[in-house]
Amino acid sequence: MRVERLGQSFVARVHDLDLSQPLAAAEFAAIDEAWFAHRVLSFPRQQLTEPQLMAFSSHFGPLEKHVLRDYHHDIYPEILMLSTVVEDGEPQGLADAGSYWHSDVSYKAKPSRASSLYALEIPEQGGDTLFCDMAAAYDALPGAMKVRLDGLQAAHNYHHRNRVQVDKKGIRGELTAAQRAETPEVLHPVVRTQPETGQKALFINPGFTVRLEGMPASESAALLEELFSHCLQDRFCFRYKWEKGDVVAWDNAVTMHCATVLDLPAGSRRTMWRTIISGDVPI
Ligand code: OGA
Ligand code: MN
Repeated sequence: MRVERLGQSFVARVHDLDLSQPLAAAEFAAIDEAWFAHRVLSFPRQQLTEPQLMAFSSHFGPLEKHVLRDYHHDIYPEILMLSTVVEDGEPQGLADAGSYWHSDVSYKAKPSRASSLYALEIPEQGGDTLFCDMAAAYDALPGAMKVRLDGLQAAHNYHHRNRVQVDKKGIRGELTAAQRAETPEVLHPVVRTQPETGQKALFINPGFTVRLEGMPASESAALLEELFSHCLQDRFCFRYKWEKGDVVAWDNAVTMHCATVLDLPAGSRRTMWRTIISGDVPI
């Protein structure tokens, strides 16, 4: 296999690996090395069945099911269907998934360690996924800001996000009482440490982070705004352009990402399988 850094970025493409086959220990070791050297890895030209994608994803940790059961794959609930396609009035997947900057599942006490997406169907143009390097963004903060953020906690709230999405497009439905009970608001450190590398990163995102704890609402909103505009500078961001057959996996502890599906022209076909890899309580 060959690892190619994409641009001057934190994203790399891993060539010459067939993920449908069991990988050797040395190949997994090389993937891990690339994983920690970069933060987002793309594996082009794959042709996978559901169990093959799940087997590969499981290398990064145990898989967990998304709270939106309606969009689970019919046979493999560990796969979440993302799709803009509607067949006979039936949406083939969640059509507005991740269409806001976020880190996957940061709204739970144990956010996901990693995620993978496998592109089954990609439109001619658009539908890119944007990534942001939250470790580089943290490193570039002025020292005084790092001191200010030290020990600060932020609230992450899924109910808030679902409400915004429902109001926006009417694509997804209201959460059920059971889904609400599964996703109580949680607090996480604003600065977290990647457990394997010791790298510090900002762990807040516009999608799920609703406030900073222990300060007046206006101060919290202003500081979040300032931090988000710092993170979303071009120098920390990368636009990933998909090709059918790509598998992209990333470290949620040190990145955030944003789908651009809502910008696609009506009738565009984009379908992905998504797996969620469990993580630990951020520290
Ligand atoms: C998601 C997500 C990105 C995309 O499903 O959480 O971020 O580009 N998807 O589809
Ligand atoms: Mn996501």
